[in-house]
Amino acid sequence: MIEIFDSIFKLSTRDTSYIFALTEQGHAEHIYYGKRIPDRDMSSLRLKNTIMLGTTVDYQADTAGYSLDTTLLEYSGIGKGDFRHSPMELIMPDGSFVTDFVYHRHEVTDGPFSCGESGLPYATGDAETLHLIFKDKKYEGVTLTLHYTVFEACNVIGRCVTLENGGRESLYIRKLMSFMFDMPTADYTMLTLDGGWAKEAHIHERAVSYGIQVNDSTTGGSSNRHNPAFLLKAPGADEERGEVFGFNLIYSGNHYSAVEKGNHDTLRIMSGINPHCFLWKLNAGESFCTPQAVMSYTDGGINAFAANMHDFVNRHVIRPTFRFSERPVVVNNWEATFFHFNRRKLLALARRAKGLGVEMFVLDDGWFGERNHDRAGLGDWVVNKKKLPGGLASLSKAIHRMGMKFGLWFEPECVNPDSNLYRAHPDWAIRVPGREPGFGRNQLVLDLTRKDVRDYIVESVSTVLNGAEIEYVKWDYNRHISDMYSSSLSNQGEFFHRYILGLYEVLRRIFVENHPTVLLESCSSGGNRFDLGMLCYSPQIWTSDDTDALERLDIQRGIYTFYPQSTVSAHVSMTPNQQTLRAAPLSTRFNVAMFGVLGYELDFGELTRDERRQIKEQIAFYKAHRSLLQYGRLARYFPRAGERESWQISRDGKAVAAIYNLSYHASPARDTLRILGAEDGKTYEVSSVKQYLRIGRFGSLVKHISPVAIKSDGAIMRFVDRNFSMVDGSEHYVSSGEALQSGISLAMQYSGTGYDPHLRILGDGGSTAYTVDELKNYEHTFEKGNGNG
Ligand code: DGJ
Repeated sequence: MIEIFDSIFKLSTRDTSYIFALTEQGHAEHIYYGKRIPDRDMSSLRLKNTIMLGTTVDYQADTAGYSLDTTLLEYSGIGKGDFRHSPMELIMPDGSFVTDFVYHRHEVTDGPFSCGESGLPYATGDAETLHLIFKDKKYEGVTLTLHYTVFEACNVIGRCVTLENGGRESLYIRKLMSFMFDMPTADYTMLTLDGGWAKEAHIHERAVSYGIQVNDSTTGGSSNRHNPAFLLKAPGADEERGEVFGFNLIYSGNHYSAVEKGNHDTLRIMSGINPHCFLWKLNAGESFCTPQAVMSYTDGGINAFAANMHDFVNRHVIRPTFRFSERPVVVNNWEATFFHFNRRKLLALARRAKGLGVEMFVLDDGWFGERNHDRAGLGDWVVNKKKLPGGLASLSKAIHRMGMKFGLWFEPECVNPDSNLYRAHPDWAIRVPGREPGFGRNQLVLDLTRKDVRDYIVESVSTVLNGAEIEYVKWDYNRHISDMYSSSLSNQGEFFHRYILGLYEVLRRIFVENHPTVLLESCSSGGNRFDLGMLCYSPQIWTSDDTDALERLDIQRGIYTFYPQSTVSAHVSMTPNQQTLRAAPLSTRFNVAMFGVLGYELDFGELTRDERRQIKEQIAFYKAHRSLLQYGRLARYFPRAGERESWQISRDGKAVAAIYNLSYHASPARDTLRILGAEDGKTYEVSSVKQYLRIGRFGSLVKHISPVAIKSDGAIMRFVDRNFSMVDGSEHYVSSGEALQSGISLAMQYSGTGYDPHLRILGDGGSTAYTVDELKNYEHTFEKGNGNG
C-alpha cells in the first residue's frame, strides 16, 4: 500500500513500513524502515537537526541548520554539502560534478515498474509503484526519478532510478546507484556471500564500522567472489529472531553495494551497477534506467527474511510459465563421462537412469564440433557426428522412447580460437586491438555488445533447438571478462553494461519469445552468475561445480539466505568426490541434494546393485515430497555451532528435515531435532527416512562380530560390502507441535562401544533425515507415546 499525506510517503507491505518525507527544500528525507507502524505523525521519528555543527556546510545561506550532510536522505548528489559516499556521479554539461535534484512531482501507478527500452529484467506480478520525480536546479531538463515498487505480500520493496536528459547537451554518468537510503543507527553486522570457483556463497560476517564497506564484482558477471545479495543484522539477530535488513539486485553484471558508517553513527546503504570502468554518455533526449534493487525487513531473524525473499523470487522473478512448476529429476553425464562419450555410452547411462526413476537426460559439454577436450570446438554449435552418428534428433528420440525428456548443454557466449567460428570471425572475440588477450579455460568471450554476434548466437542455438526435441537447456559460461573492448562502441565505459544487456536480449529472444517452455538452467562454472537477473530467464541455476555434500552445505546455506530451493540445482555425484577427494555416504549426498532441484551426475554402472536400489528409493522419496521440497518454507538452525546443522522444509502440516554432522568428535553430544515450522496445538508423527550403511564402513571391526574369520580388505568382505547394506538408525516418534519446536531427543550416534540397530551411525559427514506429518484427531495418552524402533 502506498499512502501520501502532508509531504510524507508511507509504503506498507504486510509486515513492514518504509517512510520518507519531502523537506522544505525539496529533498527526500528518510524517516523509517522497519516493522509495520500505524503512525501518521512523524515528528517523533524524524532525526533531530536542531543546530548547526562545526565544519558542516549549510545547504544555502538562508537555510541555517539545514545541511544535507546531517539529513537522512533517500538519494543524494555531489557538491551541495553531503560529504558521504554519493550514489550518483554525473558530469554535467558545464563540466562540473555538482548536481542538486529537488522535488518536482510524483505519481502512483498500479503494477510493477519496468523500463521498457532499457532491456533490463524487472520483477513482475502484483505490485504498486511510486514514482518520485526530481529536477536538477540548474539543468531543469535533467530529471531523476526514484521508483519504489511495493510487493506487499512478500514484504519486499523494489527500488531503481531513471535519469532523463531532457536538456540540449549531453552529460556523462559515472555512477548511478539503483537505490540509497540512510538509517539513523549503524549498529549492524554485514553478512555477505563470498568465495570463488567451487566454493561459492560462503557466509561471512563483519561488524559495520566507520568508513565504507563494499561488496562488489568486477569480473563482468555477478561473480562467484561476492554475490550481489547482502544483509544487515541487528545485535542479537540470528536464524530465528531479531531484526534483519536484506538487499539484492536484479542484475547479472558488475555490481556494487556499500554501507557507510558516518561520523554521527548514521548508516548509508546503496547498491547498483559497479562504477568500475563505467562511463555512460547520456545524449539529449535519452534516458538511463538502473537495474532494480530489492530490499526486505523482518524482526523474525534470517529464516523469516529468507522466507520473504523466497516468496518474492518464486512469485515475482521466475517467469510465469515456471512459477511453482515442479522441476524434473535429471541425470547429467558430465562427471560420469566428461568429453569421452558416444551414443552407446549415453544410452546405457540413460537406460539405467530411467530404471531408477530419473525423468530427464541432460547431455553436457562435448557433443558439438571438435569438442573432445576444452581446447577446441567452442562456438561451433553443430553436432559431432563421430560421437553421435544419428545426430541430436535421433538421440533425443531414443531418450524420449525410453520415457525421459532430453536436455542439452551450450556455452554460447564463448569461443575457442581452435574453432570454425573463430577462424571465420576472429574479430567477434573480445580483445583490445594491439594487445594479446588473456585466456580463461582456453577460451575467449564473444562480444555480445555487437548485434551480428547476438544474431549468430540466437540463430545457431535456435537451429539446434528446432532440430530436435529438447525440453531443457543448460546455459554455461566459464570465464570472467578481461581485455574488455568493443569495436562497436565509441565509448568503452559502456562495455560491461552493454555486454549484460546483450546477454539479456539473447536470452529473451531465444527462450522468452521463441522457446518459452524450454526449462533453462543457467550455469557459470557453477555459481559464478547466481543472481536475480539470470533467474528472470532461467528458473534454476547450477549452484556449484563442487558436488561434495559437506562443501554443498556451506554453499547452499549461503544461497538459501536469499534464493529459494526451487532455483538451486543440486546433484548426487560419485564418492570420493571429484573436487575434494572426500568420501561421503550416499545417504548424505542425497540428504543435501534433496533440498534443491535434484539430479544425479555419476555413472550408475560404477555403483553396486545395492546402491542403485537405494537411489531408486531416494528418487521415489523425492518425487513423493517434491512440491514440499521445492516450494515449502525452508528454515535452518545450528544445534551445535560448527558441529551440527539442520535444514528443514515445512508446509501444510508436513515437513522434511535433515540433521548433518559437520564434524564428528568421539563420544558425541546428544542430538535433538527441532521442527521450526511445527504449530502449537497440533500433533505430528516423526519418522526417519530409510537410509542404509555400507558394511565396509565398519572396516576391521567386522571381524569381531563375524562368526567366521574375514579380512577387512579380503574378497568376502568386498563381496558383502557390494551386495548388502544395513538399515541406518530407524526412528519413529509422536510429538506435539510445542515439543517439536523445543526439540525432541534423537537416537544416540555410534560411539565405538558396540552396535545396536537403533543407533544412528553417522561419523564425519553423516546425516539423518525425517518426515514429519500432522496427525489429525490424535489424543495424547500415556500408552501412545512410543520410542524409536
Ligand atoms: C562447467 C559446469 O559448471 C559443469 O557442470 C560442466 O557443464 C562443465 N562446465 C562443462 O564444460
